[in-house]
Amino acid sequence: MCGIVGYTGKGDVIDVILKGLTNLEYRGYDSAGIALRDENKIKIYKALGKLINLKNELETNKSEIKNPTSGIGHIRWATHGNPSVINAHPHTCTCGKLAVVHNGIIENYKELREILISKGCKFKSQTDTEVIAHLIADEYANTKNLEAAVRNAVKKLQGAYAICLIHEDEPDIIVGARKHAPMLVGVGEGENFIASDTTALIEYTKRAIYLEDNEIAVISKDKIKITDIEGIEQVKKIEVLPWEPVALSKLGYKHYMLKEINEQPDVIRNVLNGKISDIQNPVILNEVSLNKDILKNLNKIQIIACGTSLHAAMAGKFLMEEFAGISVEVEASSEYIYKRTTTDSSTLVIGVSQSGETADTITAIKQAKSKNAHILIITNRPDSNMARLADSLIPLNAGIEVSVAATKSYIAQLISFYLLAIHLAEIKDSLPKSYLQNLKHEMIQLPSKIESILSDTSVIQACARKYSSYKNFIYIARGINLATALEGALKLKEISYINATGYPAGELKHGPIAMLDETMPVLSILIPGGITYEKVLSNCEEAKARNAKLIALTSSEDENINNIFDDVIKLPKVSEILSPVLACVPLQLLSYYIAEFLGKDVDQPRNLAKSVTVE
Ligand code: AGP
Repeated sequence: MCGIVGYTGKGDVIDVILKGLTNLEYRGYDSAGIALRDENKIKIYKALGKLINLKNELETNKSEIKNPTSGIGHIRWATHGNPSVINAHPHTCTCGKLAVVHNGIIENYKELREILISKGCKFKSQTDTEVIAHLIADEYANTKNLEAAVRNAVKKLQGAYAICLIHEDEPDIIVGARKHAPMLVGVGEGENFIASDTTALIEYTKRAIYLEDNEIAVISKDKIKITDIEGIEQVKKIEVLPWEPVALSKLGYKHYMLKEINEQPDVIRNVLNGKISDIQNPVILNEVSLNKDILKNLNKIQIIACGTSLHAAMAGKFLMEEFAGISVEVEASSEYIYKRTTTDSSTLVIGVSQSGETADTITAIKQAKSKNAHILIITNRPDSNMARLADSLIPLNAGIEVSVAATKSYIAQLISFYLLAIHLAEIKDSLPKSYLQNLKHEMIQLPSKIESILSDTSVIQACARKYSSYKNFIYIARGINLATALEGALKLKEISYINATGYPAGELKHGPIAMLDETMPVLSILIPGGITYEKVLSNCEEAKARNAKLIALTSSEDENINNIFDDVIKLPKVSEILSPVLACVPLQLLSYYIAEFLGKDVDQPRNLAKSVTVE
């Protein structure tokens, strides 16, 4: 959510920290700050808004910055206290010798604040983070050792934290600690790093050590020491990061979102790679390490996810029930946590998450794990905290997704669910072989069909221009495309701030139809040959009779369709069951172009963060 970078070493400290923060900026972006150890003093610079404002602030003050040897930086997504310079990190203690940045939420910060105020600490901000600075300073007054002070202080914190700090009296060491929030140490030569995500390190090192909960790292330019909460030194593995710097380039596209939409054919090819070698043979899904007897007798699956991943989960439920006849429940992670669930040791619980760091989903998965369920994680980040909870892991292999609006990760999640549902059907022998062969054959064609959608977006752009001034939309569909309608509406909401609702087409007449008039476009997904086609068409006629503007997203060749609908966005010919994979693409593009026409910040929409690490 927020982003942390700490650096000490031979390089240009400001440059390294700012580049790292730039690569994290997509995760949260309402203010930013940096603390530098310069001429044996801690100097702090902060700015409201995007990182560019912090860069300008540093430029304005460059004459007073000499030769910093270490520093910590932060970009913030506000939780406690509104976005402001005062609330921006780093935060300091009363004497100003210590600077700390923090991701997460300290739940007992009010109690700690009262205690620290009674000890004479002077608070400046409304943040929960500031208590950490005062608490560590308080411990430091006794221990005169930063590592020991951090260890004593974090024992008093309740909640989630990844913290990184420097102290004026402890030259050139940076201390990091984590609990329920990601943090890693980047290993360099003559330099070392602390960061909240690998993307901050990508331009400097491929070697990293992941911290576990309750571990504390102390780094200097040529030493790394990691201890547990009791101070016992830990032997840690240095992992090699999979990403190349090019993964963070826009490759000539105006926005990451457009680049990521255009990457989708290759993403599908990657996900399918090695899974369907021959359509006659079963799919190869070695990742699902569940014993075949257990899978055969499985009678319940629960899928837990948030946002776009939740929509992929809804399509996944449809597929697994349809193909394998297994009962599947889908639950928003934040709802799963607070109810009595029927999860037990014979349940397969699937966690779906692009980032693998979504706090709601991690908490829900931990809860399911405590009930001995088998945990399957589908994520784009096999290096994430969620992946570490998995008994089985399906990596999405979609490449880093930078734009806040998920696109290519959604399509990779969909394809993963098709493969999983086919895998279950093949184990349970629940579908005719010829049906599965046709399905696999059609799946292999999907990338080239998406390429044909991407090769001419003129109709979608014309629609975007025509409808960009409308304030409300309804997206309708039935069956497996209900998930597509919900996802299409979410995409429009999050990047254009237009009110868009996804709805089961058949439910329109049970309430929402009351809202329809010429100011409310209805976008419907209609796939001829599918069992829902005629019914959705009738629901569209009902909307037309209320003067709503009608937009069809369809593969229909029927000329008559142009008489019913105001605008028609054509899809290549596709079976209804596979149509969500194609239908999501024009909906992503429609949202993209509407947001573009409206001049919105497509890649970093207001109030959002790419990875939501707080509940
Ligand atoms: C997607 O466009 C959204 N930004 C958001 O709904 C996202 O899908 C959600 O926060 C879940 O994230 P995850 O997949 O990383 O868990």
